[in-house]
Amino acid sequence: MDNCKAVALLDSGVGGLTVVKEISRQLPDEHVVYFGDTARMPYGPRPSEQVRNFAYQIIDFLLTQQIKMIIVACNSAASAGLEYYGQQVGLPLLDVIEPGVRAALRQTVNRKVGVIGTTGTIESGAYQRVFQRLAPDVQVFSRPCPLFVLVVENELIHTPEVLGVAEQYLQPLKKEGVDTLILGCTHYPLLADVIGSVMGPHVTLISSAQETASEARKILEEKEMLHPPGGSPLHRFYVSGPAKNFRKMAVKLLEKEIKAFQVVLDEETPLLL
Ligand code: DGL
Repeated sequence: MDNCKAVALLDSGVGGLTVVKEISRQLPDEHVVYFGDTARMPYGPRPSEQVRNFAYQIIDFLLTQQIKMIIVACNSAASAGLEYYGQQVGLPLLDVIEPGVRAALRQTVNRKVGVIGTTGTIESGAYQRVFQRLAPDVQVFSRPCPLFVLVVENELIHTPEVLGVAEQYLQPLKKEGVDTLILGCTHYPLLADVIGSVMGPHVTLISSAQETASEARKILEEKEMLHPPGGSPLHRFYVSGPAKNFRKMAVKLLEKEIKAFQVVLDEETPLLL
């Protein structure tokens, strides 16, 4: 039965786990399959064509699992061209960009919104396009924060240097007077404390995880594909790099025991475009 299939998520590493956590909260009966492309992270500095091909390759893998929906829990992959994935998949597919913008629009009062993300995401202009479509009056100020992903993946969140890096990245947005800041990379909610301390209490931080999970729920409801209540949901985690490091971080983040398996992906991804 399709209802009993899993919700699949992908990211370059542990960032998408922020979305998994929210899926577990809002859709506690759903099975989850997660892929973290840890061997090839970070995606942010890579050319969009390459990131698109990595995402294709992972989606191909996910399609071999029993899945009913795909969430691209990676802004960088989504910015590299979600429209192409749609053609490939034949399953409901959503990303984290539009849900984040919608959440920001509900919060902003002065209509000045900041967006931080990887270099790939910011340079793609993906957020600007969604704002343009949904709320063209909003002033959008964006900044790449390339070191943040490495800070998270290398467990350096609590080091004193991080505050200095954050100040350097965020001061220009603060000066513009944004009242809302979209954490446009799924790794960044893990740095919310330091980002919040730099931006100050009057700036609302938006993590798209919550909004994405509720969008997933809506889609599954509409398609009558929700997993029936009860049973014990299975959460499976796959990574392209060594499973041990990922598992350690995932256990901390998800606050539960998990199993992670390594899947070695072929570097020579065939071009699917
Ligand atoms: N978590 C990802 C994102 O949302 C990927 C970051 C990276 O690998 O550079 O953009």
